Amino acid sequence: MTEPTDKTRASRRKFLVGAAGLAAVASRPALADPKNLPPNVADWTHTLGEAVGTHGYGSPSKYEKNVVRRTVSWLTATPESSVSFTPLHELDGIITPNGLCFERHHGGIAEIDPNDYRLMLHGLVDKPLVFTLEDLKRLPRVNRIHFLECAANSGMEWRGAQLNGCQYTHGMVHCVQYTGVPLKLLLEQAGVKANGKWIMAEGGDAAGMNRSIPMAKALDDCLVAYRMNGEMLRPEQGYPVRLVVPGWEGNVWVKWLRRLKVGDQPWYTREETGKYTDLLENGKARKFTFEMDPKSVITSPSPQAPLKRKGFTVISGLAWSGRGKVARVDVSLDGGRNWRTARIDGPVFDKACVRFYAEIEWNGEPLLLQSRAIDDTGYVQPSKNDLRKIRGVNSIYHNNGIQTWSLKADGEVENVEVG
Ligand code: MTE
Ligand code: CO
Repeated sequence: MTEPTDKTRASRRKFLVGAAGLAAVASRPALADPKNLPPNVADWTHTLGEAVGTHGYGSPSKYEKNVVRRTVSWLTATPESSVSFTPLHELDGIITPNGLCFERHHGGIAEIDPNDYRLMLHGLVDKPLVFTLEDLKRLPRVNRIHFLECAANSGMEWRGAQLNGCQYTHGMVHCVQYTGVPLKLLLEQAGVKANGKWIMAEGGDAAGMNRSIPMAKALDDCLVAYRMNGEMLRPEQGYPVRLVVPGWEGNVWVKWLRRLKVGDQPWYTREETGKYTDLLENGKARKFTFEMDPKSVITSPSPQAPLKRKGFTVISGLAWSGRGKVARVDVSLDGGRNWRTARIDGPVFDKACVRFYAEIEWNGEPLLLQSRAIDDTGYVQPSKNDLRKIRGVNSIYHNNGIQTWSLKADGEVENVEVG
């Protein structure tokens, strides 16, 4: 039940049934122990609880052990160059807990001793610099909440509905608060030469992942970040330092950042030529598709979060845009024929996730659930078919098409497409 085993319909069905079965057991009130129910005094009131300080670093309740990142074993050739997915269907609000942020590594998780950590800044600058972690922490810092989405998020869905669960179809996204130094400040310290138009960011992991970033973006809102949600970055997220490139594809957010080189043109690295480009029908490929277009997904109900009862139901989901703020989210119950405006609740930040809700009365009728994001540039999230008209079906990256969930009379939910 933990992962969709392959792409056939039969096995998807098995996965679904498993997920629905588990949810039903967990929610059935009949399984409650009567001695713990009112008017009795429950077990946990009769004894002292664990001592303060038992858990130096706290963990979630043992009853929440299903709330974990998950991998799909057949998706990648090796576990070092692979991905784990955020359990979006188990979360609410806009902040992803650090331990649940999806991971994408090309050469495993680098283990870096912060004492040995150095960041080089060189190339077309007046004064090449090397920063220690302490140097970076001494500089003026800012706090910013941003989403990070891998360009390959929903990539499996280009040719049709594939994976049964928003964790797998949309779980290569997370949204946290970063603390770091504006990249602009480091560049000013080094003094960028007049012909310095691009920057190459390189990771210190075994993949040595590197990407070219235009100087205008580097000077705009990029951060050299060392904290997420208040604490130091997790090793999986690039400890001790990663690049934050708000609104742009996850691949350019170089982790375990070791080098920044200023140049007069892009480097055309492997990750921006052979990978992270989109092959069109005419055989040409789109290059430097940095910005992540508006996108949304209903996280509940969804295949891993089926409906347990009829009546008042809260539809909930996430929306984001790499172009600015999410201005509105619409929800459809009939596969996109009619739309209603969803309620965005909580803060709305630039290039960050927003949480939306739509409350309905569900009487057990089958529904085709969809959501679409509209950002403050006026961009409306397209249907998958409209996207295919422009981009063909050879793409992997940048699939921001509208997701459809088929809600059945029994409350189960399946990943489908509508014509
Ligand atoms: N940086 C390095 N050094 N090595 C990597 O493998 N993966 C990139 C990017 N930065 C990667 C990297 C990709 S493809 C993505 S989507 C994001 O990191 C994922 O960030 P996360 O693991 O914090 O979710
Ligand atoms: Co990626």
